[in-house]
Amino acid sequence: MTNELLELKKQALLEIESSNSLPEVEEIRVKYLSKKGSISLMMGKLRDLSPEERPKFGAEVNTAKEKIGNALYVKKTELENIELLQLLANEKIDVTLPGYQFYQGSIHPLHQVIEDLEDLFIGMGYDVAEGPELENDHYNFEMMNLAKDHPARGMQDSFYTDENTLLRTHTSPVQARTMLEKVGKPLRIICPGKVYRRDDDDPTHSHQFTQIEGLVVDENITFANLKDALLKMVRHLFGEDRVIRLRPSYFPFTEPSVEVDVSYVKKDGTLGYIEILGAGRVHPNVLAMGGYDPKKFQGFAFGIGVERIAILKYNIDDIRHFYTNDLRFLGQFKGVNR
Ligand code: PHE
Repeated sequence: MTNELLELKKQALLEIESSNSLPEVEEIRVKYLSKKGSISLMMGKLRDLSPEERPKFGAEVNTAKEKIGNALYVKKTELENIELLQLLANEKIDVTLPGYQFYQGSIHPLHQVIEDLEDLFIGMGYDVAEGPELENDHYNFEMMNLAKDHPARGMQDSFYTDENTLLRTHTSPVQARTMLEKVGKPLRIICPGKVYRRDDDDPTHSHQFTQIEGLVVDENITFANLKDALLKMVRHLFGEDRVIRLRPSYFPFTEPSVEVDVSYVKKDGTLGYIEILGAGRVHPNVLAMGGYDPKKFQGFAFGIGVERIAILKYNIDDIRHFYTNDLRFLGQFKGVNR
């Protein structure tokens, strides 16, 4: 090998050895191995050599190229590894950082009451029925024994969309719909759902609220069966120490009709009562319109105000909290019933 080639090779390897950055390595590659690099230019010297010397010299230049190329590769890999390790060191995961929070929703308090009572009544052999919120006057009133000119319609002033269609004022039309569907067969259902009445909203009134209707039709149904079902429900909701009080009332679709109060212990230790629902024995006219022979069948029905129950159960001071979707309110009912 010529001295010049030897020198170049030695020089290149030294430079590679002492380099310590990737751009430097690249610079060295260009300096020696690129087309115009000093090693590549050595090939030009072939012309000055005799034909016998040429193969040997050519081979020597190629060997030098290969050696330098290998050294560059090794150095480059080494530097890349160092760079990667540094990167990893800087990007260390800080396990002490607070994690992402996934907020878990909860069941709306009104739905907790509904689901709770569905479970209870399903356990007592009831089915859960449904009906439309946009209802025919026919089902909402007439089938419930409130003819077009019935004065009691005034108790449930409502939103009509046309002469015969309204937002249902109670869940009672589902009584009529279910009776027609069951065509004379015994039935027990509850029906939870939204109802609407014209009312000015304030802490105790809302133009939209929620009811659960109950209806049982069978042979040999007595008022005692109604009291039994209601007492079971009240005790399930509020505790075994509660009693119920029935007061005479009036609904066109039940006869006799009652308002049902639940007992509570007042601050002074005496017993107080709060009204929670309306109920009664199904009126013979309602049974007859529903396709049941009132001489053979009897029934009872009740209508519970779900907000009322939730307000009493959870001590809520304003009915409007149920409808405003404020998470500070709703978040307080996580897992109350489950
Ligand atoms: N539908 C009545 C109301 O909304 C409640 C009720 C239902 C009363 C069933 C008696 C029987 O006021």
